[in-house]
Order: sequence, then C-alpha cells, then structure tokens
Amino acid sequence: MLKRTDYCGEINESFIGKQVTVNAWLGTRRDHGGVIFFDMRDRTGIVQVVFDPEADAALHENAHKLRSEFVLAITGKVRLRPEGTQNKRIPTGMIEVLAEKLEVLNESKTLPFMIEDDAEVSEEIRLQYRYLDLRRPKIQKNLIIRHKVCEITRNYLNNAGFIEVETPMLIKSTPEGARDYLVPSRVNEGKFFALPQSPQTLKQILMVSGLDKYYQIVKCFRDEDLRADRQPEFTQIDLEMSFVDEQDVMDVTEGIVQNVFNGVKGTNLSGHFTKMHYDEAMEKYGNDKPDTRFEMHLKTVSDIFKGSDFKVFAGVIEKGGVVKSINFKGAGEKLSRKEIDDLVAYAQKCGASGMAWIRFADKPESPIVKFLGDDRIEMIKKEMNAEKGDITFFIADKFTAANDVLSRVRLHIGKKYGFIDESKFNFLWVTDFPMFAFNEQENRLDANHHPFTTVKDEDAHLLDTDPVNSKAKAYDLILNGTEIGGGSIRIHRRDLQSKIFSLLKISEEDAKMKFGFLLEALEYGAPPHGGLALGLDRLIMILTGSQSIRDVIAFPKTQKAQCLLTDAPGEVDLKQLKELHIKIVQE
Ligand code: AMO
Ligand code: AMP
Repeated sequence: MLKRTDYCGEINESFIGKQVTVNAWLGTRRDHGGVIFFDMRDRTGIVQVVFDPEADAALHENAHKLRSEFVLAITGKVRLRPEGTQNKRIPTGMIEVLAEKLEVLNESKTLPFMIEDDAEVSEEIRLQYRYLDLRRPKIQKNLIIRHKVCEITRNYLNNAGFIEVETPMLIKSTPEGARDYLVPSRVNEGKFFALPQSPQTLKQILMVSGLDKYYQIVKCFRDEDLRADRQPEFTQIDLEMSFVDEQDVMDVTEGIVQNVFNGVKGTNLSGHFTKMHYDEAMEKYGNDKPDTRFEMHLKTVSDIFKGSDFKVFAGVIEKGGVVKSINFKGAGEKLSRKEIDDLVAYAQKCGASGMAWIRFADKPESPIVKFLGDDRIEMIKKEMNAEKGDITFFIADKFTAANDVLSRVRLHIGKKYGFIDESKFNFLWVTDFPMFAFNEQENRLDANHHPFTTVKDEDAHLLDTDPVNSKAKAYDLILNGTEIGGGSIRIHRRDLQSKIFSLLKISEEDAKMKFGFLLEALEYGAPPHGGLALGLDRLIMILTGSQSIRDVIAFPKTQKAQCLLTDAPGEVDLKQLKELHIKIVQE
C-alpha cells in the first residue's frame, strides 16, 4: 500500500514541488471529459488532486472509473493552482496535487446521502448510517473538540492534585430523581443492578476513604423524557473534595471551565464568575437558570392590581397567587396586532390561561385598560420603567406557574426579536437554593438537589421549625441560560442525614435498604466534603454552537431512547430471558 506521508488538510503552499501521498476518501469529483479533479478528504480537511490525461493517460483512465467514497491512496506532486482557480477560503485552496500513482484500497456502494454538512436528509437516516454521518466535517470537528475538552480537564485536575478513580456501572439505585435503568442479575435470581444516575454515593464513599480529591469523566444513565439537551446516557465531569466549602468547589470548577474555553475558543476568561441567589433568579428571570445575556427582567406587580376591577387578576391574588410582568422595549412599533396575539398564544402553549398586555402609545391601549384607571396604569408604567413605544405583558397565576410561563415568554421574545448577543458567554453561579421543594401531588417535601446536600449553617434551626424556608449549600453553574453543572456541600454527619431523611419522609428502613452503605460509612469518620458535576455534553453543545445534543455524541440515542445504528434496544431470545429469570408479560 502507498503509505500516507501527509494529511490532506495540512498540505499547503510550503509543500510546492514536493511529492506527497494521501490515504483518504474520494469526496466530490469533477470530470468534464478532460482533466479530472478529486477532492480527497480525511479528518483534517480536503485537498484537490488532478488527473491530467496529458501527464499520464493510463492513470487518467483509471481515475475515470472511481466513485464517491472510494478509499484511495494517491501519490503526486504538489503545485500552485493556476490563477483564477485558487480558493482562499480553505487552507489547501492555493495548491493541488498532480497525481502520479493511484491505489484503490476499497470501493463503496452508492451512498444513501451525500457527505455534506448541510445535506438535506432526515436525522433518522443519518443516525441509521451513523458511520457515514460521522464523516461530515462538522461532526468530526465536534468530536475533536470534545476530545480536547477532556484532555484540558484531565490536565487541569491532575495538576490540581485530583485522582481519577473509576466507579462501577453495575450498582444500586442512586438518588438523582430520574427513573433507573435496571440490569437483571443471572446469578442472583430476581435481583437487579441499577445503572448509575451519577457516581454520587460512591464519590462520597471515596472521601470517607481519604482519597481527598477525586474526579472522573463518567457515563451516567437516566431513564427520563428526552429533550434537545438531554440524553438517557450522558457524560459528567464529576468531582468531589474533602475539607472544603462552597467557594473551594467553585474555584476548581471555574479553573476547569476557563481553561476549556480559553483553550478551545481562544477566550481570555479569568477571575470569578458572577453569583446570584436562587431567590433573585426566580424574581428577576422566573427560573433558576437565568440567561443573563439580556435584561427584560420580570417584576412582581401584584400590589398594583390588588383590589382593582380586573377580576381575573384580583381573583388570582386573593387566592395567594401573583401577577408578574415584563416590559418589551420598543415593541409598540415592532409588533403587529397579530404578533402580539402570537405571543399570547405562545404563553398559552406554555400553560397560561391568558396573557394580558398594555401598549403604551399616545394613550395606553389594551383590553384591560378599562378595568384599571389612570392611577394604576401610571403605577405600572413607573414600576416597569415603560415608555411610549413599549408593551408590558402580564401573567397572573400561582408563583411557580407565573414565573415558569413568563420566563419562557421572555426567552422566546429574546430569541425571536434579537435581544440575545450570541457571541457572549455569560457564566453565572446560582446559589442558596432551597433545601426542599414541596411536592403538591404527593403532599410532601422533595430534596431540591439530592438528599445528601447539607443545609446553610444559619438555617440549620429551620429544619425543626420551617424546613421549606431553609436554604442549602448547593450551587448550579449556568451558561447562557443552560445548566451546565451542579453540586453541593454534603452532609457528613449521620444524625443530620437521618433528620433530612425523616423530613423527606424516607423511613429509616427504606434509607437503610437504599443507601445503608453510605449511612454506615458516615459513622466511621467521614470528613466534611462537597463536589460538583459538569454536564460534558451540554458544555460541548455550547462550545460548538450545536442545536442538538446528538451532534456532540458519537453514537447518540433518539428522542425515543433508541440507537438506530445498532437497532437497540432489541428483543432477546427466550433462553437468555430464562437464564435471567425473566418472563415478558404482554399487557
Ligand atoms: P445533576 O443531576 O445536577 O447533579 O447533574 C449534573 C449535570 O449533568 C448534566 N445533565 C445531563 N446532561 C445530559 N443529559 C441528561 N439527561 C442530563 N442530566 C444532567 C447537567 C447537570 O448540570 N451527583 C450530582 C452532582 C453533585 O452533586 O456533585 C448530579 O448528578 O449539565
Ligand atoms: P378575559 O376577561 O378572560 O377575556 O381576559 C382579559 C385579558 O386578560 C385577556 O387579554 C387575557 O389574555 C388576559 N388573561 C386572562 N387570564 C390571565 C392570566 N391568568 N394571566 C394574565 N392574563 C390573563
């Protein structure tokens, strides 16, 4: 075989006059009867190869028979492209290789789609033929960036004294709040392993063992409803440290993320990321992962509507709900009536019963003006900082629902009307989360992060009197409105852990069955500890500007949690099921 001397994308003007050999795929070919041009492609890019009948008639004849995606070895001499045919947009665009030798290493059937970044082909077909899809330069670039991010992360953490430890995939259920993927045990009839939703319990055990600083780039499995930024199996950069407080964990995380961005994006990030309390995030942005690339803050204006003739709002307030508002600057001129109606419809799609609005023109215009009176309108205008030309929008509902809908309307407006500066990377720590969230359906408290998260020192007394208002030593890292990481300082004392379980209505018996090993470990000299996990896939999505998490994972699952390449999950034969003591019952 003619062996490679150089990668296609690396051959440039400094090679002129030299002989090179490339081992690569035949991409596009142009054959107009005379000279034949091949774009030869490998993972570094493409180089143009020329077959000239006048230079070598037999070779030219051979080239004639070759088709797209054949695997070729070609030797030839590098020369400057003639004036007028040069392409300054690609690194190899000034040169071409005049072919001297050719070897066909393998042929290819006609492809189900073209290997092009913007080929119009359904994602189903692309995932089914993932090996072809992965030949696309854009996806290859994503995978190479992913590799680089892992390399930078490992270097950074190794230098900071962290030890990489592998934790098992066949374990007991972990408490991250999603459904488990279960694996039946053949040798233990009727028993199941759970694939880890995260290495949470085991990394805490490693702290009890004295490992001091642990990390792992690790697969996690969660059987949950999938979205554009969620996969059933995804990767975390997971870390845990002993004898630390919240700031120590944040410092290390900032170090990783800044090194990654500076290394991959050429940014110059340093210093600390901004922090915001959970309460402020909810008040101003309506969610716990604010996109701070634009303002348009939410404000609570319930007081202004209290006792007004607008019965819808007055009724919501009477029942303990709130009215929240945003002001869309300059919308009065930008938005037609239909566009306003579209925004209202969007709010309704998000679950609102309606969305009221006031357009501040010469006079305030709105279906609700007649209920309010001049004073109240003036108060709204002042509170919302609204001027002539603006439109304010209002949602009245329970606190959580009003925030949820209006925060989504805010983001929708931000994206649709160009308020978001896409070149920005806005990192933000959200801190001081509540320890618990009230689960209305089951009328009990749920852990907001996970049940091993400790309480703020100053709120410890609230666990006995007013647990719902106690805050946790928990923190999330947000980038441009996406949660890219989360963690907490953990409970390291058995008595406090028991108290939290009882508040969560997890019985001592249940706790022992699920996490007995960790509870016991806490009784043998567990050091204070805490940590965090970054969502690697989401980080890469943002770094590469990808819209779908599937574009940054080599072999992703579909929305229905299927792998179309291997056709998994699949059926298994009866013998296998029998060995596992499993019977399928059709419902
Ligand atoms: P958490 O559940 O917040 O914390 O997960 C950490 C980060 O992982 C990413 N992530 C996901 N990415 C893709 N697909 C998913 N289905 C998915 N679920 C989560 C998010 C998230 O911020 N053990 C704790 C961490 C700790 O306390 O140290 C944990 O797993 O970016
Ligand atoms: P109605 O009296 O139901 O026609 O509503 C009058 C206006 O209030 C309409 O513009 C509705 O979209 C709006 N509206 C109704 N319910 C709500 C709500 N819960 N929050 C905000 N606006 C609402």
